[in-house]
Amino acid sequence: MDAALLPKAELHVHVEGTLEPELVVELARRHRVALPTADPELLRAARHFTDLQSFLDQYYDAAELLRTEQDFHDLMAAYLARAERAGVRRAEVFLDPQHHTGRGVPLEAVFGGLSAAAAASPVSVDLIPCFLRHLGPDAALEALRTWLPYREHFIGVGLDSTEIGNPPAAYAPAYALAAAEGLHRTAHVGEEGTSADVAEALDTLGIERLDHGNHALDDVEVVARLRDAGTPLTVCPLSNVALRVVDDLTAHPLPAMLDAGLVVTVNSDDPAYFGGYVDDNFRALRDVVGLTDAQLTQLAIASFDASFAEPAARATWR
Ligand code: HPA
Ligand code: ZN
Repeated sequence: MDAALLPKAELHVHVEGTLEPELVVELARRHRVALPTADPELLRAARHFTDLQSFLDQYYDAAELLRTEQDFHDLMAAYLARAERAGVRRAEVFLDPQHHTGRGVPLEAVFGGLSAAAAASPVSVDLIPCFLRHLGPDAALEALRTWLPYREHFIGVGLDSTEIGNPPAAYAPAYALAAAEGLHRTAHVGEEGTSADVAEALDTLGIERLDHGNHALDDVEVVARLRDAGTPLTVCPLSNVALRVVDDLTAHPLPAMLDAGLVVTVNSDDPAYFGGYVDDNFRALRDVVGLTDAQLTQLAIASFDASFAEPAARATWR
């Protein structure tokens, strides 16, 4: 079997980042929004970036086409169909509700559309709404309070958007409320931020996983903390290349993470923007980085072990 298609869990994918140009064209037609071009290939070719912020600007702009429950349903359905072909048996999917409610889209439409598509898929799916760093910590706490009436639609919280200038500790009150509500906790840290930011997140947020975490490797003590606690990293190789977190795949720290004894998983992040789904990330690790089939198998198994799902459910996915 192609090791890239091994059964796996995807633990770091933003549903808004699965918005392919073909669906952009369809949504623009549906909502009578003018696009610079209706050619999906031209839209795809415009998706290139110099850093995280240059990506986020395009990502939030395109996500403004998501307006109705049907739109969110169609987005999730398209992702899950593609993920299933990548061997994904379990997906823990991020969303950015503040970006939608801030434009007047009701939470019912967001959660309702995503959950309806998830329920119709053979993939096991749970949702993880993220706090938007660029809106600040008070907005995060307020957002979580508005999400709690939709508690049956999600299993945890995350933290994403602009990392530089928005260190993690300020989000401690929102994470404390999440913990008190029995929600799982993860956060994007150390993508463009530093190993000190990773240590700060471990100290203040009570996170069970670390999203990206590349720069944790800059400090042996932070690496030791992650290793000793068994904190999984959700690593996104093609994303890191597209956003210039690494110079190229051959310079990716994933092999060093494995050598350091960290729990590592492989994920697509924003596959419609970064040139590949999770199977493409596995294939790149094999063909460009030189990982063996045994290492790819280890990564696939780690993805189930790092899942927030109950152990009894995990056993059925392998
Ligand atoms: N980093 C931060 N925020 C994001 C990302 C990311 O890689 N993708 C979508 N929102
Ligand atoms: Zn991400």
